[in-house]
Amino acid sequence: MDSQTRDFYSPTHVVFGWGASARTGAEARRLGGRRVFVVTDQRVHSAGLTREPLKSLGDAGIEAVIFDDCEVDPSTATVERALERYLAEGCDVIVCIGGGSPICLARAVALRASNPTLSLRAMEGMNKFAAPPKPTVLVTTTTGSGSEVSPVFIITDPERMVKMNVGGHGAQATVSILDPAMLKSLPAGQVIATGMDAITHSLEAFLSNRASLITDALAIRSLEVLWKHIGPAAYSVNNMESRGQMLLASIVSVQASGSARLGLVHATSDQICAFHHVSHGMSNALMLPVVMEYNLPAAPDKFVELARATGEDVRHEADAPEAFLKAIARFYRRMGIPTRLPDVVDPASFDDWADRTLDNPLYTTTIRQPGKAEIVELYRRAKAGWSWP
Ligand SMILES: [Fe+2]
Repeated sequence: MDSQTRDFYSPTHVVFGWGASARTGAEARRLGGRRVFVVTDQRVHSAGLTREPLKSLGDAGIEAVIFDDCEVDPSTATVERALERYLAEGCDVIVCIGGGSPICLARAVALRASNPTLSLRAMEGMNKFAAPPKPTVLVTTTTGSGSEVSPVFIITDPERMVKMNVGGHGAQATVSILDPAMLKSLPAGQVIATGMDAITHSLEAFLSNRASLITDALAIRSLEVLWKHIGPAAYSVNNMESRGQMLLASIVSVQASGSARLGLVHATSDQICAFHHVSHGMSNALMLPVVMEYNLPAAPDKFVELARATGEDVRHEADAPEAFLKAIARFYRRMGIPTRLPDVVDPASFDDWADRTLDNPLYTTTIRQPGKAEIVELYRRAKAGWSWP
């Protein structure tokens, strides 16, 4: 153990189980809700997923003002528009029904509402806000975004083409309701994309230079569950048990990464996501193998644990760290995940992307820190396509 102090803080009240979304009204009421602001998006709303939570709000005698104008990767402008409506309608508690994008929007409105003089840009980074956010109740409709328990949320600043991380201690949601029944209509592609994000959270928390015994325990166990259940959750006809397991494990992975932080996969993948509109989870999946290969020499013992957690034979310790790379290769083949960056990605961008990676706060917590030329090389390798035996 090095001489740095560590934090572990995970204050969100998690409610989990079949039919848990019927608790939405009671939880909002307990937080003082009388007229709540419901953030969702049109896909979720039209799929009927808002029905049960809205009914429970009505049953609790709570009025609901619905805001469903949330795009994928919400921007600062959308936050300001939603905030205006929240204030004009005299709302109190903020309820979100949706996946990662509406959740980030709801949390941003909650933080802006309690910090009226600070713009999101002024609060970019960790612990830059003055007052904790308004109370929030989140009902998730995807597996894996992790924003349900994370200290940070992500909002796009379109002027700078930057996905801003905003948050810190005390910025977490108040209540997160995880109801596997809300995942019934989730398409397989989305299960894989959000599942790959969750797997990346487990791996990056485990390989962070801020990791601790507490975060390691959460990271390894969540990785085991995610690795085992992602395939059945996406493709099996009887997938609901696996989807429930993915939902819970994705939260556990973020309880690890919320305190240990993330690393180079997220720092490099943000550019793919911001410039080419590849989903956050798939952007991570595109960078994950080459970054893991790069990380290996810095943490061979931890790679043995990763190999063990993903079911590899680690009796021959000398080959065991590499066994995890082989596990990734087999896993990608089995899941049909692409092994090279999309054709539209122009290698001429890599110099700028490397600068942006170096500026990303997550660069500081990755276990092995590359120089600019090495980052360009990682992008080139991801573009050329990797393959391992
Ligand atoms: Fe992520």
